[in-house]
Amino acid sequence: MGIRILSVFGTRPEAIKMAPVIWELQKYPDRIESRVCVTAQHREMLDQVLGVFRITPDIDLNLMQPAQTLPELTTRVVAGITEVLERERPDCVLVQGDTTTVMATALAAFYRKVPVGHIEAGLRTYDRYSPFPEEINRRITDVLATFCFAPTRAAAEALRREGISDRDIYVTGNTVIDALLWAVRQPEPPDVAKLASRLDGQKLVLVTAHRRENFGAPLEEICLGLRELARRNPQIAIVYPVHLNPNVQEPVHRILQGEERIYLISPLSYLSFAHLMNRADVILTDSGGIQEEAPALGKPVLVVREETERPEAIEAGVAKLVEIDAHVIVQEVERLLYDEQAYRQMANAVSPFGDGHAAERIVRILLERLK
Ligand code: UD1
Ligand code: UDP
Repeated sequence: MGIRILSVFGTRPEAIKMAPVIWELQKYPDRIESRVCVTAQHREMLDQVLGVFRITPDIDLNLMQPAQTLPELTTRVVAGITEVLERERPDCVLVQGDTTTVMATALAAFYRKVPVGHIEAGLRTYDRYSPFPEEINRRITDVLATFCFAPTRAAAEALRREGISDRDIYVTGNTVIDALLWAVRQPEPPDVAKLASRLDGQKLVLVTAHRRENFGAPLEEICLGLRELARRNPQIAIVYPVHLNPNVQEPVHRILQGEERIYLISPLSYLSFAHLMNRADVILTDSGGIQEEAPALGKPVLVVREETERPEAIEAGVAKLVEIDAHVIVQEVERLLYDEQAYRQMANAVSPFGDGHAAERIVRILLERLK
């Protein structure tokens, strides 16, 4: 029998970043028994990704509740995963990222003394409330993990500074680049061409925002900035696939619904979103994953957050932190769209987060360490 590896994930970004690893694990049927468990912390947004990557989970805990709270969700994940571990008896559990699913799964695995591999280890802002609760989720997970797969050298360095043994830290690149490079090689889905055909030569500003610390006034401020931007600039169109979290849906629709040249749409399938990023002129986001993807596509990305755990993109000059103030947002987007030099300086295709082979490295290391 092969090494039994249980990959656990629950949300859209975890699924995207775990998919290349699951594909890679499946390449070794003689040596690895790969099992997939989803908590379904997200439901529709997770299922979209499972569909794109054609992954059928072996176990689906189906945990999402509307407007779920952190303590409720954490409790349900720890209990659900504990039962799965009792039944499945894996040799190793893989988690990816910094969500509640990740932290609670790592804890449940630790209680059963099952080694945990943490993919995307070592990201830090060192501000416990930003992003909230992800900064603490990932620190807890790194403490619990047996194998830390750091996407970059800086992330590995952070782990070393925190006293994690060098022997357990591996710099692998981020698996999101594996997923992205695959996605943009696929034919462009028809919904993207349809959206683009509505643009009428306008410049495309692609927007996402969903972070918990931006709920309330900051998210409203972002929306006011977008409204102002669209009203002032007939030559700009804004496409915003709105996250299904009700704390996002309500203010975004209240402030932006019905505005000319602002297209509020449902979350896009990963293939469509990747191709739409490729067509965008500017991306404005508070998402983690998009900060990694935009540089690989050479798309300037304005990050509406106070700080980032992904400084590599800022250092590479492709990303910029933007104060959450409507006027500043308008100013920064307009500058990029009308100042060619400013645009050229940011539109560099660089890939500080990986080369598209992260999943291969991770699986090779697992084969070596778990044999
Ligand atoms: C979660 C993660 C966040 C990650 C984000 C990616 C935590 C604490 N937060 O935030 O780190 O960046 O996912 O998107 O782990 N909902 C649906 N359908 C879906 C998904 C969400 O209806 O497919 C709604 C539900 O009402 C759900 C709510 O959104 O209760 C919140 O979902 P949750 O996973 O708790 O938080 P996110 O804000 O999505
Ligand atoms: N994404 C997607 N459809 C969308 C918006 C985003 O597939 O409509 C992808 C995006 O390319 C990235 C990931 O979702 O890979 C980011 O997820 P999210 O912003 O939900 O979470 P975060 O990365 O902030 O944790």
